[in-house]
Amino acid sequence: MKTRIFVSLLTASLIFFSCGNNDGETDEASRSAEQEQGLTEFELEHGVGPVTERVDIDDTIDAEMATKGLNIYEMKCEMCHNMEGRMVGPALGDVLERRSPEFVMNFILNPSGMVQEHPEGQRLLQEYMTAMPYQNVKEDEARAIVEFLRDYNQNQ
Ligand code: HEC
Repeated sequence: MKTRIFVSLLTASLIFFSCGNNDGETDEASRSAEQEQGLTEFELEHGVGPVTERVDIDDTIDAEMATKGLNIYEMKCEMCHNMEGRMVGPALGDVLERRSPEFVMNFILNPSGMVQEHPEGQRLLQEYMTAMPYQNVKEDEARAIVEFLRDYNQNQ
């Protein structure tokens, strides 16, 4: 375990140093790692993946959609995630306080892209040391999981 942490840290610092060094300008060097990775503002805030624009979200919760989301969550997510407290992956009960719905959907739909290309995904992978697998969840199912998470938050 220790060696793996060390190797990831080493890789991270190598990437950091090699990016910061490309043209010698201090302004360039201090540009954030995010910009170096060439992500758009949308991608930085809402994740990398098939969801490329804001999703329509109503104030009221769609109960039917939330139930569908819960069923998928129980089938495909619960073995690695708790609502409260860390498991194989981070707790999801409060994820919408940290992330936008689009970010959550992109994580579900494109987990490998998120840990490879997005700075937050890279950080999570280093912290949890397991890559979340692609679960063959469709976009409307990912949207339903968001509805389930919103419903959960509202009932806390
Ligand atoms: C095999 C274990 C596993 C399964 C199954 C899994 N995840 Fe994950 N998930 C992880 C890990 C580990 C991370 C941290 C990122 C990484 O290392 O890939 C993560 C990260 C996430 C994140 C980002 C959390 C944050 O703080 O930004 C979301 C959202 C998420 N998972 C949702 C889901 C949903 C919804 C499902 C079910 C469709 C699911 N995951 C299935 C392991 C899993």
